[in-house]
Amino acid sequence: MITNKELFDTVNGQPVYKLSLTNANNMTISCLSYGANWYELLVPTAAGPQNLILNFAKIADYQATNEYLNMSIGRVAGRIGQGQFKIGDHHYQVAANEGRNTLHGGPHGFNQINWDSEVVANQIIFTHKITNAVDSFPGDLDVTLTYTLTDDNQVLLDYNVLSHGETVFNPTNHAYFNLNADDKNIKNLTLRLKSSHRLALDTEKIPTGQTLVNTDTPYGFETQKTLGAAIDGLQTIPEKGIDDVYLIDRHADNDPIAVLSHPTNHISVSIFSQRNAIVLFTANDFGPDQPYLTKTGQNYVGVALEAQIAPNAIFDHDYGDFSLQDGERQHYQTKYQVRF
Ligand code: GAL
Repeated sequence: MITNKELFDTVNGQPVYKLSLTNANNMTISCLSYGANWYELLVPTAAGPQNLILNFAKIADYQATNEYLNMSIGRVAGRIGQGQFKIGDHHYQVAANEGRNTLHGGPHGFNQINWDSEVVANQIIFTHKITNAVDSFPGDLDVTLTYTLTDDNQVLLDYNVLSHGETVFNPTNHAYFNLNADDKNIKNLTLRLKSSHRLALDTEKIPTGQTLVNTDTPYGFETQKTLGAAIDGLQTIPEKGIDDVYLIDRHADNDPIAVLSHPTNHISVSIFSQRNAIVLFTANDFGPDQPYLTKTGQNYVGVALEAQIAPNAIFDHDYGDFSLQDGERQHYQTKYQVRF
């Protein structure tokens, strides 16, 4: 494993580091300490290293958009309606950052933190204590986020926490993939997703408690199809694409929940997770103001696949329970198997 840690930029006078790992097959991942961001996923090709995820040149570019580009997301992925929830009999109100709702951990989420960082063997390790005083969620949380690169081309994202006081924890990563070497958007890529249903969402994208059928609709990917086929079938809805919470069907542990593939270049990314949902977001209204290093800013420039517990678990435990008690430890893992 070849490892490196170097200065990337500064934020509020603090150094932002870029940390990288390269395995025996010449595949590289790199991360930024700001946002515990997944910065590069480089695979070797005849034309040189190809980055399979989107990125920007400097931190100001990340701060100028609200795309959460490749950011670590927490404490809670997705939207908490009106920033309100209950743990047992206790009501909590957390800070809002999208109208009256709390999106992706609110105004002081994981994406805003410049994390302590180190490279150890084949791991990039980020640590931070996030406190109630800063992010307004109940309790303090010792968080360790680890990116591991293996010699069989797997990237493991591990989320380990210890809570001090009761709280909620449902993290994810907001990597946007695009497996094209040229400037194409993601419409030619194929996706298979183990999901027959998705959550119904209201006009503020808060789960209503109902579910909708994906099978045999533009939303269905149980049989592999192109993202373009789905997007073309959704041009009559305001979103003109997908931004939805897919419920994962029962599957064997060693079965990927999602497989994203390029139609001809043999590059694919399979995602493994034991959690019961994944948000599929096709970057529907992204535009030319976004200075990606390897792509022109455009609609559908990347696809985010965000493994998590269904966000309505915060009010309906039929969908899971991501609350933590005082002193509780929790661990989640998302695994990406890359083929090239
Ligand atoms: C997704 C969310 C979208 C959008 C995006 C960030 O997880 O579902 O609505 O907020 O993050 O640009």
